[in-house]
Amino acid sequence: MNAPVVIPPAAVPIGRDLFKTVSSHWPSGVAVITTAAGDGTLHGLTMSAVIALSLEPMQFLISVDKTSNTLPVLKQKRRFCINFLNSDQRDICMLFASKAADKFASVGHRLSDLGLPKIDGAVSCISCDVNSIISSGDHEIMIGDVRDMEHFGGEPLIHFKRSFHTVQPG
Ligand SMILES: Cc1cc2nc3c(=O)[nH]c(=O)nc-3n(C[C@H](O)[C@H](O)[C@H](O)COP(=O)(O)O)c2cc1C
Repeated sequence: MNAPVVIPPAAVPIGRDLFKTVSSHWPSGVAVITTAAGDGTLHGLTMSAVIALSLEPMQFLISVDKTSNTLPVLKQKRRFCINFLNSDQRDICMLFASKAADKFASVGHRLSDLGLPKIDGAVSCISCDVNSIISSGDHEIMIGDVRDMEHFGGEPLIHFKRSFHTVQPG
């Protein structure tokens, strides 16, 4: 029988830059997560940490930085919409990645029956009710039960190596 392969722990601590470089080499789509506060104001942020988590029941997972201004609204509303951005929506990506006060003023959107803003031109929109929230490190993971889905089609916006891309068939 072969001896087990033992991988020793790294001799030096892993630097933050290496973590960021490795993470940036994992391509992802780009979404805008939207929600609405009790006073009717609309909120949202750009997010790549979106996962289609479960088919039965249908669930999506999002991961929100604890410093996000949208996070308290998400926790209060317990409902969000995932808008998969189209490749021509880089400006919307950057707007929702900012700390602007009213991110919806210049962005076409409509309110769904669930009271959530859906962004015009998105590839798909997925509305979820928050099922559970897990605090992990500097993020809060939210698992959402899917309440409605719409698919409009088009090419998704891709984020890879700190820049934007479109899908190129191999
Ligand atoms: C391509 C891209 C992906 C991002 N992914 C995430 C993410 O997964 N989770 C997160 O909390 N913030 C993510 N951000 C950062 C937020 O969009 C940014 O911190 C934003 O200013 C938060 O806005 P808020 O404080 O108004 O909620 C991402 C930004 C970009 C440009």
